[in-house]
Amino acid sequence: MRLHIREMLSAQGPHVSFHTPGHKRRGDDITELSYSDCLLSPHGVILSAERDVAAILGAERSFLLTDGSTSGVFSMLYALKREGVRKLAFPVFSHRSVYNACRVLGLEPVLMQQECVRGIPAQPPIEAIVAAESGADALLLTSPDYYGFLAPMSEAKEICGAHAKPFIIDGAHGSHLHFTDMHASKFADMWVDGVHKSLPALTQGAVVSAKTKRWAAALEEGVATFRTTSPSYPIMASVEEAVKWPRNETVERAAAQFKEDFGAVKNDDWTKILIFFGEQADAAEKALAAAGVYPEFNDGNYLMFYLSPCTAEEDLKRLGELLKDLPRGGTGKVKAGKIPIYSEGV
Ligand SMILES: Cc1ncc(COP(=O)(O)O)c(C=O)c1O
Repeated sequence: MRLHIREMLSAQGPHVSFHTPGHKRRGDDITELSYSDCLLSPHGVILSAERDVAAILGAERSFLLTDGSTSGVFSMLYALKREGVRKLAFPVFSHRSVYNACRVLGLEPVLMQQECVRGIPAQPPIEAIVAAESGADALLLTSPDYYGFLAPMSEAKEICGAHAKPFIIDGAHGSHLHFTDMHASKFADMWVDGVHKSLPALTQGAVVSAKTKRWAAALEEGVATFRTTSPSYPIMASVEEAVKWPRNETVERAAAQFKEDFGAVKNDDWTKILIFFGEQADAAEKALAAAGVYPEFNDGNYLMFYLSPCTAEEDLKRLGELLKDLPRGGTGKVKAGKIPIYSEGV
């Protein structure tokens, strides 16, 4: 598949920069010029990239983001507000951007409590979703979550559909699922793909999408409000490339085998390998760092190893070798951990 933004960048000739950025030309870090298109009203390579991305992700429209899923969450909540939503139901362990956007936009949160099972926040059960949805105008779920568990998206879609309420998904950790039936696009009116987290895009590269024309129009106003007006071309090019990145079933299989071999927590997402270390979590993190190996997080009970289609099999093997020698689990007790994404607002 063509990489529109990358091709435009590669075709650039030498030129004298009397434009931003102030470094006056370092590699591909250009700005919106006569030939490089404009993110706010795209008509050239950005439009072509966004159209391809929308087709791959199963959207009516997709918008490239260079400011993380955070700006996608703000844009979706803006779109909800524009369409009349005043109360938004979401699980208590939602990302801080959800709380912050509610506060900034004046949306009233209707919180769904989540049970912690052995230190891991469980996805809200259907009854909790039904109860919260009945007292709200729209529903947001996070799927997959940071621990690799899918939300009950199909049931949520049905519940919201029955009451004509919008359903949106924070898919900050799920863009690699676009090859599957587990992707947010199969269920939601709007969703964000945190492309930089599980596909090979540069940090902050993401996409926010709408399923229908109605939500595309509302979301367009949202992204115009919350996105930067100085988008990074290296990030945009990397997002297009990452969404077009081929599936890597070899590493997916290796991840499944690894989880089995090392007794990882049974979750729904191959990119997130969650290993219980209990009281030895800090010591394990330290020992791995001494060997130059870094997990995504240590929440005090578990270390989480985040994979992507670019994970090298040798690296997984190396991790396995190290894990064999590390004490794990101790007494098996779970302490009150620190849920990595959780924060009630600012
Ligand atoms: C569930 C969830 N949503 C949204 C975000 C925000 O994503 P970003 O850091 O790309 O702005 C994160 C970041 O960790 C997240 O975990």
